[in-house]
Amino acid sequence: MSDNKVQIFDTTLRDGEQVPGCKLNTEQKLIIAEQLDLLGVDIIEAGFPVSSPGDFKSVEAISKLVKKATVCGLTRSVENDIKVAGEALKYAVKPRIHTGIGTSESHIKFKFNSNPDAIIERAVNAVKYAKSFVEDVEFYAEDAGRTDNEYLARVCEAVIKAGATVLNIPDTTGYCLPHEYGAKIKYLKENVKGIDKAILSCHCHNDLGLATANSIEGVINGARQIECTINGIGERAGNTALEEVVMILKQHPYLNLDTGIQTEMLYGISQLVSDSMGIYTQPNKAIVGANAFAHSSGIHQDGVIKNRETYEIIDPKDVGVTESAIVLTARSGRAALAYRAKNIGYELTKLQLDEIYTNFLDFADQKKEVDDNDIHKIIENSKVYNEITSAE
Ligand code: KIV
Ligand code: ZN
Repeated sequence: MSDNKVQIFDTTLRDGEQVPGCKLNTEQKLIIAEQLDLLGVDIIEAGFPVSSPGDFKSVEAISKLVKKATVCGLTRSVENDIKVAGEALKYAVKPRIHTGIGTSESHIKFKFNSNPDAIIERAVNAVKYAKSFVEDVEFYAEDAGRTDNEYLARVCEAVIKAGATVLNIPDTTGYCLPHEYGAKIKYLKENVKGIDKAILSCHCHNDLGLATANSIEGVINGARQIECTINGIGERAGNTALEEVVMILKQHPYLNLDTGIQTEMLYGISQLVSDSMGIYTQPNKAIVGANAFAHSSGIHQDGVIKNRETYEIIDPKDVGVTESAIVLTARSGRAALAYRAKNIGYELTKLQLDEIYTNFLDFADQKKEVDDNDIHKIIENSKVYNEITSAE
């Protein structure tokens, strides 16, 4: 793998599916998994096989279906979880077991009633046992975001020795600030013996709205895998949004970090996930929201009509959106009205536009958004309608 390739680990079907009320059946998961494989993600986390017979069945079916991506199953550091995951993944072309344990003080004390050395022993045993099923074993240090860096480095060193190929450093509670998360990754890069044998992975939650920023700081500081979900869905406030990290790396080429994602598929897959899970995507969601390429104020519309890049940093076609939208509201100016009227066949002179614009503003004050039918009506009811049609 080249040094500047960032692997995209999609967990829509595992962490994403933990959203209350978003349960998918196997058939729906297979459709999404097929699209994720076409999208070019490197790893698909297909589920948590021991959690239910339905999840086992889905992970097994996805393992049989997916040909390009690695298929991964989650486990706790519990023998039976690992055995069941090994079983569910046995048909995968490239199987991975994702095992781990909580490493923060609070997890060690309250969740496990244990101590730091005993946790390392459990982690090592889990990785060794997982290695008896698959070669590719990823270890997660749950709540790494709130884990002391020195101890975290000890955990990482021990699991690399046991055979872990990827080290997941989750900010499970979404607490870290970007510079702290970046420093954590840097610390591990510089202080873990054997780190060159493993890939560091960012797994960030969005409780403070920082999941994307933290993941980007992680890769800037040496991580080479990002764990993310379509539309950023996931536990509580969600996970890092796949479409956001992918487009950040694409739009900032000087970072020299690439993903293999077919970005033109992003909008379609966002809609697929939103429809299948019944989760509506907020209109102002970056990259894939309904308003991500819509311009509504007069000043912005005028700028975009003259040159799209005045107010857009991404070509909508790059993410599968056909074109930028010029939305007509009472805040729109003459340029937007002329542009939309032209799209439906009216070439207006300056005087005709002045006349129609006054009627348009009266109309737009009554209705939130003016559509093509409304423009026809406004023009047909104007004093200049005959003049316009006789000139055609
Ligand atoms: O957020 C988290 O810590 C997780 C782990 C189970 C990987 O999802
Ligand atoms: Zn998570």
